[in-house]
Amino acid sequence: MNSKLIAPSILAADFANLQRDIEMVNRSEADWFHIDVMDGHFVPNISYGMPVIQAIKKHATKPLDVHLMIEKPERYIEEFAKIGADIITVHYESTIHLHRTLTQIEDAGCKAGVVLNLTTPVSVLEDILPKCYMVLLMSINPGFGGQKFEDMTYKRVIKLREMINQQGLDTRIEIDGGVTNKNIKELVNAGADTFVAGSYIFKSNNQIETIKDLKAIANS
Ligand code: DX5
Ligand code: ZN
Repeated sequence: MNSKLIAPSILAADFANLQRDIEMVNRSEADWFHIDVMDGHFVPNISYGMPVIQAIKKHATKPLDVHLMIEKPERYIEEFAKIGADIITVHYESTIHLHRTLTQIEDAGCKAGVVLNLTTPVSVLEDILPKCYMVLLMSINPGFGGQKFEDMTYKRVIKLREMINQQGLDTRIEIDGGVTNKNIKELVNAGADTFVAGSYIFKSNNQIETIKDLKAIANS
């Protein structure tokens, strides 16, 4: 069984105080930084790009989990690796030659993961699973933080964990969107082990405590 990881989503940080928020994550029990890259095409929003990620990398003492919500991510893999991505996830829906893109990520020295939108069946990953360090299941429609968690996610996690077990793998299952102290335990029970949380952490009064609580519930 994989250890349970918490990845605060920097999308919800205060960009005018980014260094302060990065240092908060460094000091906390969080495991990774979750970095959302949006291009205004694949999703209807634009977030940030290379210079901001470089600035984050300069201060971060934990791995960068880079979630690419961009069309044809294969165009930028080497660049994201060069500026310090440790894990790169690409959407199944965004790249035609998924196997080639995952190989590109590995060759660039990063861990490779695939993301599925809410309605993409988990079964599409059956053949490619051995090549995935992680599968990220969206629990919202990607593009914005602060949305409501979709309950259909639980069933999808159970199905995916079954597939992973059948193949004798230990692939991580990451959940992204609307994760809080109210759903994290049920997600663990379903078979997820890696949790992105944006607004729930950054909008709370004591962010370090909120991260600690999430981690404690996930491990309980
Ligand atoms: C949305 C992003 C998420 C987002 C999650 O497309 O992929 O990582 O920051 O934010 P919350 O936790 O607020 O739903
Ligand atoms: Zn994300």
